[in-house]
Amino acid sequence: MAQADKLIIFDTTLRDGEQSPGASMTKDEKIRIAKALEKLRVDVIEAGFPIASHGDFEAVEAVARSVTEARICGLARALNRDIDRAGEALKPANASRIHTFIATSPIHMERKLRMSPDQVLEQAVAAVRRARRYTDDVEFSAEDAGRSDPDFLCRVFEAVIDAGASTLNIPDTVGYNIPQQFGELIGTLIERIPNADKAVFSVHCHNDLGLAVANSLAAVMNGARQVECTINGLGERAGNAALEEVAMAVRTRRDVFSCDTMLDTTQIVPCSRLVSNITGFPVQPNKAIVGANAFAHESGIHQDGILKSRETYEIMRAEDVGWSHNRMVLGKHSGRNAFKSRLAEIGVEFDSEDDLNAAFARFKDLADKKHEIFDEDLQALVTDTSASAENERARLVSLHVCSETGETPRADVTLSLDGEERAGSAKGSGPVDAAFKAIEHVVNSGAELLLYSVNNITTGTDSQGEVTVRLERGGRIVNGQGADTDIVIASAKAYVNACNKILSPVDRDHPQGADV
Ligand code: KIV
Ligand code: ZN
Repeated sequence: MAQADKLIIFDTTLRDGEQSPGASMTKDEKIRIAKALEKLRVDVIEAGFPIASHGDFEAVEAVARSVTEARICGLARALNRDIDRAGEALKPANASRIHTFIATSPIHMERKLRMSPDQVLEQAVAAVRRARRYTDDVEFSAEDAGRSDPDFLCRVFEAVIDAGASTLNIPDTVGYNIPQQFGELIGTLIERIPNADKAVFSVHCHNDLGLAVANSLAAVMNGARQVECTINGLGERAGNAALEEVAMAVRTRRDVFSCDTMLDTTQIVPCSRLVSNITGFPVQPNKAIVGANAFAHESGIHQDGILKSRETYEIMRAEDVGWSHNRMVLGKHSGRNAFKSRLAEIGVEFDSEDDLNAAFARFKDLADKKHEIFDEDLQALVTDTSASAENERARLVSLHVCSETGETPRADVTLSLDGEERAGSAKGSGPVDAAFKAIEHVVNSGAELLLYSVNNITTGTDSQGEVTVRLERGGRIVNGQGADTDIVIASAKAYVNACNKILSPVDRDHPQGADV
């Protein structure tokens, strides 16, 4: 594909996506998502904001070390200390990018930065020059560009290109823009900036008015050749443009767009599931591309049409975005090789034989309880294995719950805590409440429960329940996951998993804390 026809996909799930309240991820979780993004063949992965905390720095460095195909990017305000920290974190990367930003809208310059436009311009140029000491791939963002004066944007962008920026990002930081107007802004900038041909124009749209994807596509139609987006549209407030929607719009409507991405779109659904599992943000059933109903046909007329010719009601093929046709994959008699190769087909690989063996043992346990094992079950099983390996101080040994009509439910739990078996009992308003109280009795985390959610992974009453528990202690928020055919056990596993995270050494309170 010629460079002009290529739409660069800059994924910011690990940075802006993590700014969704409650979506914080551990370093290991970030690595797993980054590897899935690499399989999806995104061009750039924004792995975090290294100055924000020691934890953010380590996560960016670890992603830079683990991913070889995609370019790894670190965010930095237009300040020397931010840029130096980003440069340091990105050292292990095969290909790196520093993304530096400063606000250019009157309201941000006057009220937040308390700087004049000339001072902002000077700082932007200095930041780009400093970033070039570390890498020759520097992106500059004019924060709140969507509410900035186009004349001023032209001045700033021209100057930062001269200083060495090769990507210019135009964010609609507050999701205020409307597609036609935003598209025109991009077209105007490209036309008016004298050295525009020396840079790629990028957009980064927030979804406050539900227009993030539409604005991004309008920008592409007017010459933008990089879109910043996130899996499932995760991101600050109402989120960012959803990667899967942008990618499938340009691929499906090649008659309208004169560019395409390099994505392996069959990895979209596995990526979406992984991000949803890890963050605890469920995907709504009617969500485009990745929602459970995105390819379901309910009406008789539609079903009849589909049977006669798929194209009557489908504009994309489900399998092209990673929904598998052959949904019943494995069972009790399946061997280790079949298990391993089916997981590889859905994009899951193991770092070590030990990880594979642990996952296979779980698979055998599950196959004893559940006749048909679907791809979704496999994915949950793997999430469960890796989640529990990280900083595991507590492990669920056994759980007994008693729940009957007219009686208060009771739970008796045995945990292994720091290698020692400990028991706890409690009553609760329901079996899950009793189980959580019994676990808390042993672990004594003192954390507050922010979220408890259960999703059935497949259909049927023998389906596994996938549970997310979000806990908060002293401002620190963590997510725990658990899956089992018994939803009380899945809940207990998720609670223990969250406790392990909250008991692990504090690396940061809030992802990308603003008070850096
Ligand atoms: O929304 C925004 O403006 C950002 C910038 C840092 C690019 O996230
Ligand atoms: Zn943003």
